[in-house]
Order: sequence, then structure tokens, then C-alpha cells
Amino acid sequence: MGQALKRSTINSDRLWDALEELGRIGAFQSEHDEIMGVRRLALSDEDAAGRRLVIEWFRDAGLSIDIDQIGNAYATRPGIDNTLAPVMSGSHVDSVPSAGRFDGVLGVLGALEVIRSLNDHNITTHRPITIAFFTDEEGCRFATDMLGSAVATNRVPLEQAWSLRDADGRSVREELERIGFLGDEPVGLRKPHAFVECHVEQGPILQREGLDLGVVIGVQGISWQRLTITGASAHAGTTPLEYRRDAGLVAAKINAHMREMCTSGSFGELMLATMGVISPEPCSINVIPGRVIATVDLRNPDDTALESAERHLQAFLSELSASEGIEIESQLTARTPAVAFSPDVQSVIADTADSFGLRHRRILAGAGHDAQEWSRVCPTAMIFVPGENDGISHNPLEYSSPEQCANGINVLLNTILTLADQDS
Ligand code: GLV
Ligand code: MN
Ligand code: MN
Repeated sequence: MGQALKRSTINSDRLWDALEELGRIGAFQSEHDEIMGVRRLALSDEDAAGRRLVIEWFRDAGLSIDIDQIGNAYATRPGIDNTLAPVMSGSHVDSVPSAGRFDGVLGVLGALEVIRSLNDHNITTHRPITIAFFTDEEGCRFATDMLGSAVATNRVPLEQAWSLRDADGRSVREELERIGFLGDEPVGLRKPHAFVECHVEQGPILQREGLDLGVVIGVQGISWQRLTITGASAHAGTTPLEYRRDAGLVAAKINAHMREMCTSGSFGELMLATMGVISPEPCSINVIPGRVIATVDLRNPDDTALESAERHLQAFLSELSASEGIEIESQLTARTPAVAFSPDVQSVIADTADSFGLRHRRILAGAGHDAQEWSRVCPTAMIFVPGENDGISHNPLEYSSPEQCANGINVLLNTILTLADQDS
């Protein structure tokens, strides 16, 4: 039974080798430094290759695999009593265009390493264990984050998810079909006993405080919009100021205003706002931009403050549109409220970390995570692993050491064992 492996360790070299091997899929030479980055946009050829490698590893570990209609992959190791709900663990394989090797991948390959370690030690758990990866957690290709887990947990309807299109007009459904991951398992039916995800922190707190782990208490609210700012393209040298309808200038004003929203304190100290896409047309040095596609990413741990920031920004867009004579269309593409994780699962993680002598603290997630979707379905929490370089992430410099990763996955293993031995 599970007790036998408590406080024993995973195979850290094997975990590291797997992280390195998957990190070679979609690897690119970063412009700014020697370091290799990773680009595995959801449902791209690179994502498909990453998925296939992980599925092969799942199979080699003796797991039975199911793919659902949104392309999530579930791999299950039976327990003693397979009528009981499984403990589930997993994360994502897709990445932002400028990723490192750890975001999401540590949670998937860490869960795989848990299974491999259980196999090595011939450990049988009371409940089955399901490990998984979820489609398009990043949301940067099809504009909605946590897409696969949101569909699996009935927040986003399947048809709506299938019909999302990327910038080239390709739909989620077409791309799932093209890469061979349009599965047949119906979505929305899985009800795990508990869900636990290990992830890199992606911020500076754990490193700054010299800690080994974070026990994640929840996730802040996230609001995404796509702005279409339409003015008129015209000659940069011959168009007097009063004749201009400069969509680029308007995008810059919105961006500057978003920063003021963060520094003003009006939406609390923790308000964050980012314009990650600013895409002018026609994009030429001597043409006033006639149109800009821009994105807005607002984050706040306080739902009321986030709603108030959304309303404030909307009012600012209306005023600016009127004063500049420029059309600003905004479309909400993703919206998730702040989420609180299960105190019980947090306690299991914290006790397990103590049993390893690891220094830890409670911490709030700034990034979105698949776990927040599963938290509506079953008791859920997350383990954060510190990152070097102030925990930089969504950047090729993202790095957690073999020891830091192994700490997180040792705690994941033993947390899963405790949860998998629970009767209720
Ligand atoms: C995912 O990484 C997000 O929080 O944007
Ligand atoms: Mn992630
Ligand atoms: Mn990410």
C-alpha cells in the first residue's frame, strides 16, 4: 500500500531527462541570449509532437489512455478498488511563443514520474490514479486560456471551444482533427476524488524568501479582451495632425492608462494590466496605423476590484473613442474569477513538505492553471516549485534546478499517495 513509499524519493535523473527531452520539441534559439526557448503553441505541429512523445511515455508506464473530444489526454493506473474516484494530477504541454522548458511540463512529466516511481516500487494504491495533460492551457493561440480543462469541467461548452479560431482562421476542431487528437470520450463526466498539480511558481517570492516550495491557496481573477482599434491609414509625412486618425496612438494611450490603473491604487495594490499584443496595420514606418489589434490582460486577486477595473477601462475606451474619433471594439475572450483551493488538500501538501524537511509557505498563483478549473469539481490544490532568475517565466530563461523540481515531485508523489488511500 501507499505507506511503503511515504517519504521515499522519485528518480530525479529520470525526471530531468524527460524534461530535457520534451524541451527539445519546439525548441528555438532565443534572439537575446544563448539559451534555447520552447515554442509549442496549442494544437500546432510542435504541440502534436510533444503530445505524442508524452503519450508514448504514458503507454510505456503501463497506463490506459483516453482522449476526450477537446483533446485532453487521461492516463490511468488502476487501484485496488476501481469503483472509487481516482486522484488526478496533470497540467499542460502547450506553451506561449517565448516559453522555457518547465511551465506546465513539470506538472505533466512530474505526474508521469510519480507513476514510474510507483511502478518501480510495486506500490498499489487504494484508488486509481489518473494523470493528464489538457488542451491549450496558455490560450495565446485561440484566445481562451485553460480551454481543455474548462471544457472538461463544463465551464466552456464544447461547441463554443471547437469553434474558436486562431489568427489564420483555423478552428480548434479542425486543428484537433489535423493533429489526430480529436478524441471520442465525452467531456464533462470525470469527477476525481481530488486534483493536485505541481507547477513552477513563475514569480520571485519563493526564491526571494529562500524557500523550497509553495503551497498554493488559490488563483487570482483574470480578464482578457481583444481590442480592434480602427482609424485611418495615411501618409506619415503629409498628413497634418488635425487630419490624423491614428490607431497606434490610441493603442499607446490605452496601454499607458492601464499602467496608471495599476499604480493609482484604485483597484488595490495587486492590480496588474498588460497589453501583450499590439499589432498595427499596415505596419510600415511611413504609414499612420489605420488599425491596431491589441489585447488586454487584467489580473487581480479581488473579484470586486477586477470587476471595477473592467468597468473603468470600458468607460475610458468609450471616452477615448469619442475624443479621438476612432472606433474601439472590445471583445471579452476569457474571464475567470479568483479561485480558492481546498484547505484539506493544502494541508496534505504542507504536511508532506514538512515530512521532507522542506521550507514552504502559502502562496497565491498569479498565472492561470488547469487546477483552478478542476477545483469546481473536486478538492484541489497546487504545489509551486521556485524558479531561478527571480522566477522569470514565459521567457526562455525560465529555470528550476533538478533538485527544486525533484522536491516538488517528491511532495506530489506522497501527496497523491495520501489522497489515493483516503476512503472518502
Ligand atoms: C498562463 O500562463 C497565464 O496565466 O496566462
Ligand atoms: Mn502553466
Ligand atoms: Mn504559461
